[in-house]
Amino acid sequence: MRRTRSAPWSRALHRETVLTPANLIWPLFVTEGSAEEPIPTLPGVSRWSIAGIVERAKEARDLGIPCLALFPNTPPELRSEDGAEAYNPDNLMCRTIRALKDAVPEIGVLTDVALDPYTSHGHDGLIDDKGYVLNDATSEVLVRQAMVQAEAGADIVAPSDMMDGRVAAIRDALESAGHSNVQIMAYAAKYASAFYGPFRDAVGSRGLLTGDKKTYQMDFANREEALREVELDLAEGADSVMVKPGLPYLDIIREVKDAFAVPVFAYQVSGEYAMIEAGVAAGVADRDALVIETLTAFRRAGCAGVLTYHAAHAARLLAR
Ligand code: PBG
Repeated sequence: MRRTRSAPWSRALHRETVLTPANLIWPLFVTEGSAEEPIPTLPGVSRWSIAGIVERAKEARDLGIPCLALFPNTPPELRSEDGAEAYNPDNLMCRTIRALKDAVPEIGVLTDVALDPYTSHGHDGLIDDKGYVLNDATSEVLVRQAMVQAEAGADIVAPSDMMDGRVAAIRDALESAGHSNVQIMAYAAKYASAFYGPFRDAVGSRGLLTGDKKTYQMDFANREEALREVELDLAEGADSVMVKPGLPYLDIIREVKDAFAVPVFAYQVSGEYAMIEAGVAAGVADRDALVIETLTAFRRAGCAGVLTYHAAHAARLLAR
């Protein structure tokens, strides 16, 4: 077996998996105001103003990254029990989408559909008096949220809430409103995970969250259930599906890819990013090597692309 590994040209010739900047989606956090706000639990990642996001979009375009994923840090006074700011057509998210479509129309914009950046309790949906997240009532609000995003120019709406039936409801509404080319990337197999902490800091929901998300996000012990989630979201009209978190769930990615032969994406989430950065800071390994190895592993597992906070860094490495 070592013959084909014996020289760089031969390793290049026998390489089975290719990673390019086109496989990357760059998650970005937007905030009101004009300052860059570093996120302490996500070292190297900041919240940006709308103008800052436009700059990142130009950077992404120049690096060959095809798509950005946007997440808002809603001002505290606009968060409420019912998360109504989510479907305000002039909310931070919609203003950012419009600015991007104006300045950098050639880049894809993926938007998160879920209520957690807008609710005073930090849940992804509406809650009853016992704190239980209501399915169908939430779904109706998610439809309104997805519609203002599509109206503002979102190319892909990505429901990350894990309500049942929301993909069909969003697809129907998009069709009725003439947004037939707006894609749906369903967070299909999203697990209740300990890896989301820094993200919740970034959108400002960590301190607000009451309880956990286990009544809607999946049990990390389950794999058959992931296949059922994917099957349902595809039947409801999803164009692509996501597995999340990423690296600890490569087995799920591979199974989904083999079972359905559809575009599968993974989210290398905030806690994974932070662990890599902590490892680098501790002298465990070299950042560049870790970034390329982990992202290539997603491709090997069957991913069309990966959402990663290392997107710009990885694209720079790949351009060398
Ligand atoms: C919530 C949402 C979460 C992430 C993306 N969308 C967090 C959660 O479910 O609590 C996590 C992403 C990350 O950790 O990087 N709608």
